[in-house]
Amino acid sequence: MVEYMERDSRLGLCPARAPRGGSSMKVWKRAIGAVTAGALLAASLAGCSGDGTYSADMAEYAYEKGAPSLCQAYEDYFQVGAAINPRDLEEGSDRYKIIDKQFNVFTLENGTKAENIHPQEDVYDFEATDQLVEYGQANGKTVRGHTLVWYSQCPEWFFLDDQGNQVSAEVLIQRMKEHITTIVSRYKGKIHTWDVCNEVLDDSFGLRQSEWLNIIGDYDGDGDSYDYIEIAFQTAHEADPDARLILNDYSLEANGNKAITMYNMVKQLLEEGVPIDGIGLQMHIDYETDLDAMDRCMRVLGRLREIDPDFVLEVTELDMSCFTWNDTSTQRELTEEFVQQFDEKYCQVLSLLMDYAQEGLLDTVVFWGYDDGSSWLNEYPVEGRTNHPLLIDRELKFKSAYWALMNLPQQRAAQAAQEE
Ligand code: G3I
Repeated sequence: MVEYMERDSRLGLCPARAPRGGSSMKVWKRAIGAVTAGALLAASLAGCSGDGTYSADMAEYAYEKGAPSLCQAYEDYFQVGAAINPRDLEEGSDRYKIIDKQFNVFTLENGTKAENIHPQEDVYDFEATDQLVEYGQANGKTVRGHTLVWYSQCPEWFFLDDQGNQVSAEVLIQRMKEHITTIVSRYKGKIHTWDVCNEVLDDSFGLRQSEWLNIIGDYDGDGDSYDYIEIAFQTAHEADPDARLILNDYSLEANGNKAITMYNMVKQLLEEGVPIDGIGLQMHIDYETDLDAMDRCMRVLGRLREIDPDFVLEVTELDMSCFTWNDTSTQRELTEEFVQQFDEKYCQVLSLLMDYAQEGLLDTVVFWGYDDGSSWLNEYPVEGRTNHPLLIDRELKFKSAYWALMNLPQQRAAQAAQEE
């Protein structure tokens, strides 16, 4: 059992296992050394110099033919994906050209959520998910299913009877099983990974209060209330024994106590034989994200491999807000200094993720969208703001962050060669 050190999350983590090849601090120096903003900007401005450097000269708009491929640049580390919407799958469109070239993993941003795929007890709408799955099958892309059991975007009928009264635990379990079995079986062998449960934890030491938790509770009377999670994973596993089953949540890379709560819960569930294959870290971060805290959180979660050596971490919803959480402003001036800081932070984060990939801890990184104009962060937590959290701008042009990330793998490789 990992214990909590302090109530305040960010710095309160207990010491984590040092990564292979040295202490976290050493990894830090390497990561930061490899991606200094100066080097990145120089690389970005240098043009396609024949030495394999990627640059803005290659393509201005992300849908241009000459555009390189982000997922290809990272193929030695992890798959790179994006959350998309049905309009992105219109073959031949600019958006289709972008997603098809840049990514090899896809999640529907909203289409597979209960309110869309199962709006009424006897009504399923598979259209959007079918479309993505067909595209995935035809083009060799990995498809993620998001999400089977979530407190949000879940229609009320799950929890109410004909008279509008709350249903019993038995009825809700039956409905949940039917929901999961129908959907997972339909896409058996075609949806590679499921976010089986989403956001089951609250932000301090416990399970989130939700109708799933409150109605099902400690159904088997064993003293914990993980029952709805256990049943959800078991049911998904029965429907597709080969699917990767993920428990997905936010702030796990920033809130140390939440990471520890997750670790302790999943450890128990794994020891009880619940078929959880990995944890999904949403990673909705901002440009001031504390990388040290991130590394410590990841190391805590990585210790689940002591129980299941194949246990995996995925980054499932990466984006980087240009506003810190308490900043309520709606505009951010994109000064050279800010953009440099933003790009550098993205590189540092990806560099850490590459470390985890090299250790076999992580194999998938999915961005939550791909262009700034379509990001949910223009509406949340401040409505109507103009945010710039992704790698492609509102006009579908590549941003400097894209080029910086494109050059990162080879810069790391060059750095590693130098160190040998
Ligand atoms: O489809 C309706 C449209 O008909 C209507 O005109 C419009 C007016 O408000 O709303 C549209 O629905 C919106 C839907 O996105 C599709 O755009 C909902 O209001 C809006 O609430 C919904 O937001 C989604 C949010 O989840 C809901 O919680 C975001 O797009 C989606 O990016 C976001 O995704 C979540 C992940 O699933 C879990 N992790 C956090 C992440 C960000 O919140």
